[in-house]
Amino acid sequence: MSTFVLRQGLVVGETSSAVRDVWIEDGLIREVAPHVQAPKGSTEIDVEGCWVGPGLVDVHTHLREPGHEEAETIESGAQAGALGGFSAVVAMPNTEPALDNPALVSYVLDRGARTPIDVAVAGAITQGRRGALLAPMAEMAALGVRLFTDDGVGVQDPSLMRRALVYAKPLGVRLAQHCEDEQLAGGGTMNEGVVSSRLGLVGRPMLAEELMVLRDIELVRLTGCPMHFMHLSTARSIALVSAARLEGLPVTCEVAPHHFTLDEDSMTTFDPIFKVHPPLRGAEEVAALRAALVAGHVDAVATDHAPHAPEMKDLPFDEAPPGMLGLEHAAALTYEALGAESASPLTFFSLLSRGPARVAQLRARDARLRHGAHGGAMLAGEDANVVVFDPNVRWTARRDALKSRATNCPYDGRAMLGRVCVLIAKGELVVNNGALV
Ligand code: DOR
Repeated sequence: MSTFVLRQGLVVGETSSAVRDVWIEDGLIREVAPHVQAPKGSTEIDVEGCWVGPGLVDVHTHLREPGHEEAETIESGAQAGALGGFSAVVAMPNTEPALDNPALVSYVLDRGARTPIDVAVAGAITQGRRGALLAPMAEMAALGVRLFTDDGVGVQDPSLMRRALVYAKPLGVRLAQHCEDEQLAGGGTMNEGVVSSRLGLVGRPMLAEELMVLRDIELVRLTGCPMHFMHLSTARSIALVSAARLEGLPVTCEVAPHHFTLDEDSMTTFDPIFKVHPPLRGAEEVAALRAALVAGHVDAVATDHAPHAPEMKDLPFDEAPPGMLGLEHAAALTYEALGAESASPLTFFSLLSRGPARVAQLRARDARLRHGAHGGAMLAGEDANVVVFDPNVRWTARRDALKSRATNCPYDGRAMLGRVCVLIAKGELVVNNGALV
């Protein structure tokens, strides 16, 4: 395997950062020191002025394989992830067919192992994600699956969710909930409020999300099984999870970049590119989500990268599927939300690497899943999953420059500050100078 020395970047540890050299060899971080003597034949990369931290981890990535390879494949999604600085992604189970059994989980793990980054899998909670019968979670857990979700929809039936939690607890896995009460959401296509009334579109009220958060916190209290709350989009949802966490309940939550960078006013374009579930909310919620990120009330920024083929996204607003791309812009958008120049590098890596690695239980190597350890402390002996983020680069997001197979990116033309310039994943140089090697 290769040898690298990253020279004079700000190395961001768990609790402090310092300017250091990082020597990587044979898939491991060998030394982190003020000055490292470069071993013969090593590739030296000058990263002065950049942040050097553990490779980013996305707990919420939709790869469309099997079923919708025209939108994304495991390979193309992994490449988009790598370019975004992710050394590990968790593939969501809402493929066609759904990842609700060991054979399909193994298929995705096998394909994922052939990509330059680690691809973990979230299994479905219910068979076919239909919300009626539990999926064989124990058999999938035996393959190393640690996260289960019906994402795309939430588990609507509270008694089924209760049973799922009771079943999951002894397996040591975590259930992740897409929080939307479908009856309250009522077939809406955007946030319910003044803007939806003006546009004449049916709205999905914030309460549809908050009620399910409230319900599931109580189910966690009843069963003692951990739960992860996905793509929360309102201040109240975050407050509910924060209060439950303070009570000592085993709950974690994530926020998606589109929810803290875009608001419901985008809908005035009637462009389905902005259609997503849960929907983009009002500006007040966006500001509250940003404040929650800074305050440490959120465990992870998760992309909810949701590729859709152009012929699907170009349908009339009501018919187009919800979802937008996220992997390639998450780092810059998180940096922006944390205050750009005033952003804390510790919070940045906590939200984009250490927190999500903890939620997805990817902090230790797992031979069954064939993945290494992620979200580390940047210490000698750790697996070489390392990212370099340059907070000084100004660039413009371009839909036609994406690695993803799909193009449903809502940020086309947006000015960005901060870019992933290097990614070392599985001990190899995958991204250099902001481009795939
Ligand atoms: O908008 C969404 N799209 N929300 C989800 O939860 C699923 C996703 C998708 O798979 O397209």
